[in-house]
Parts: sequence; structure tokens; C-alpha cells
Amino acid sequence: MTFDLHIRNASQVVTMDGDGLGVLEGYDLIIHEGIISKVCAPEEARTCTAERVLDAKGMVVMPGFVDCHTHLVFAGSRAGEFARRMRGESYEEIAREGGGILSTVKATRHATFEELYENAFRWLARMLRWGTTTIEIKSGYGLTLADELKQLSVIRSLGEEVPQTLVATFMGAHALPEEMSREEYVKEVIDLMLPEVAEKGLARFVDVFCDSIAFTNDETRRILKRAKELDLEIKLHVDEIEDTGGAGLAAELGALSAEHLVKANEDGLRAMAASGVIAVLLPATTFFLREKARPNVELMRELRMPMAVATDFNPGSSTVFSLPFAAACGALLDGLTLEEVLRGITINAARAVGMDSQIGSLEEGKEADLLLLDISTWEELLYFFNRNAVRTVIKKGEVVYAQ
Ligand code: NIG
Ligand code: FE
Repeated sequence: MTFDLHIRNASQVVTMDGDGLGVLEGYDLIIHEGIISKVCAPEEARTCTAERVLDAKGMVVMPGFVDCHTHLVFAGSRAGEFARRMRGESYEEIAREGGGILSTVKATRHATFEELYENAFRWLARMLRWGTTTIEIKSGYGLTLADELKQLSVIRSLGEEVPQTLVATFMGAHALPEEMSREEYVKEVIDLMLPEVAEKGLARFVDVFCDSIAFTNDETRRILKRAKELDLEIKLHVDEIEDTGGAGLAAELGALSAEHLVKANEDGLRAMAASGVIAVLLPATTFFLREKARPNVELMRELRMPMAVATDFNPGSSTVFSLPFAAACGALLDGLTLEEVLRGITINAARAVGMDSQIGSLEEGKEADLLLLDISTWEELLYFFNRNAVRTVIKKGEVVYAQ
């Protein structure tokens, strides 16, 4: 038989198979119909004829990166707020004065579908060049039924157009809109928005910003219980600004992941580990907000909690869209090992979006979703984090970007 693609001569193939990086030296990949057929020694690969041969001499092959937490569909810029923060105002102060998320809500409500689409399309193209092949995107800059549906429809249309896989999360409970009381808005999310989003099949996940400046634990519980009744899977933004016991709540509700966790307490983390909740760490946000606190990664490690790393890309708290950069922040700021951050942007991030049976590692039977990187050993991806090493991006067996 003739296979579609043979990738040969790579100096290292980083498979992410098993508990570590699974680095193989002197291995080839054989791909057919979008799937990895073989990860094998060159002698065996030579017996397979392939339509196309890619020479990866001097390069490292890795799974495509998975950004499991972004707020990528938005309008406007908050560069002015950034300048205010650098003059000494805090993210929280700005948010409480109606800036922050609400200023992006204003711009996003004013934007047309096409404007949002074009804006997001450009960010996705930039992410592709940095090796991101799967992206979770949250709504939450609309805060009315129509505007949330507009954001989610943009995600759906983009998903049909771009080479990457997009995973949509409904996050109507991202902030309280100015025009409604807390109770009115929570009811609107529960009674109006959630059923509509579920009915239209516009999102796989539901997320809530559960924190001192956003929704209470009780409001979060009500919203996410309703989401579960509608067969939507759940994620939570917790313990970012303050420890509200959000990590414990994520465990109680059986969330797939809990995200941020900078201030999460020990009991909450233990509860998360016991119920298998994935920790999504956002060290680029820590960097961009100049946050002093750090997530308790020693305890997460001790508890063998799966840790994913994402960019949190959004106009207010993280303008980072490069996963190698976010991963470097995870190592340099949060104290994760290089192995942990690399698993964090591949296999563990794939788990955090419920896609680990298809992507996130290079194993026979999984999708051929991978990168050819111009580095001599895997460590260099993070060592030279600011130099883009991505030469070729392959998605479902097709070359979708080459440089
Ligand atoms: O993950 N924490 C809540 N949401 C975003 C911030 C969004 C914004 O500031 O626009 C975050 O950090
Ligand atoms: Fe976020």
C-alpha cells in the first residue's frame, strides 16, 4: 500500500506518550488519511512507500500545541488601560470603575459579525504560525443573548474556515452587564441563554468567572448545575483575584477543568485531585498583570494533578498568543519544569478540552496533528522562547503552514 506522508530524519520525535515527554531519537512517522499510521525506526519506514516525503533533518517533531483557554473573539483594544495599570492603577480598580471586561463588552456589542470574524481570523493566523493547532475560545464579551450568540456564531464560522480545530465555550457569566441587577442577569443566563446555546449546539463547554469581582460561588453553582442538566460540560475560572473556595467548588460540581487557581487553597486543590479536575494554569496572565501570587504547583505536583498551560489570550489580562511564550512563563514564573509545561501545552491541554483521544500526543491511531521545529533538541523551544522555531504545521495529515 502507498501511504500519504513519510516524515524522516527528525533528530527527535517528542511523542508525549506515557508520563514524560517520550523523546525518541532516530524515529520516523508514517501518516495516512490524516492519522498517524506508524511511529517507527527508519528501517521499517523504508519498507513503506509514501506519496510525499518530508525531510525533517535537524528538526524536532512535536504534537501541535493546544491552547485550552482563550477569549479570542472580541473588538477594540485596552492599550489605554494597560498604560493606566503601568502608572499604578490595578486591574481590579479599573474593572470596578466600569473599565476592564465591560469596556470590551461595549466594543464587542458595537462590532458586526464580520468585524469580529476578521479580527479573530487574524489572531488565529498568528497563532498558527506559533504552532497552535487547537484552540478553545470563550464567549463572554456580549452579555446579552444576541451578542453572546453573535460571538459563538463567529467561533462556529471560523471553525469551518481555519485549519485549526476550535472548541467553543459559552461564558455569558463573565461579568455583570451594567443594565441589569445580579439576580436578573443570573436568571437571564440560566433561563434564556443556556437553553438557547444548548439547543443551537453552539458550545461544548460552559464557564463562569467565579471570583470576588464577578460571580459568587452560589451563582456559579446555579448556572453550572443548569448547564449540566442541558448536557453541557463545565469549566470554571476560579481563585484568580481572591481565594473564594473556587477550587473546591470545581471539584464539587465535577468540572472538567478549573482555571487560573493562583490563590486556590490547599483543601480545594486536594478536592480537585480527588475528583480528577484538570488544573489549567495561565502564567502569561500572571506576567501581564504583574501578579505577585503563584499557584501552588508543588502541591499540584505532589497530588499528581494533570496541569495544562494556556495563554488566556484576551485584550485585558493577557495579550500573549504564543504558547511557547506562555509555557516559558510557566517555567520561569510558576516554577514548573520544562517537561511539565510542554505536556501542559500538548497532552494535558488536549485533556482539558476533552480531545485527548484524538490529539495532544504522537501515537499510532491519533490524528496527524504535529509540528516540525527548527531546533536541535526539545529544550531549545523554551530556551529560545522568543524565537519562532515553527517551520511546518501539519493538521489532520495536511501541511497547513510552511515557512
Ligand atoms: O481570564 N478572568 C476573567 N477573564 C479574563 C479577563 C478578561 C478581560 O480582562 O477582558 C481572564 O483573565
Ligand atoms: Fe480567562
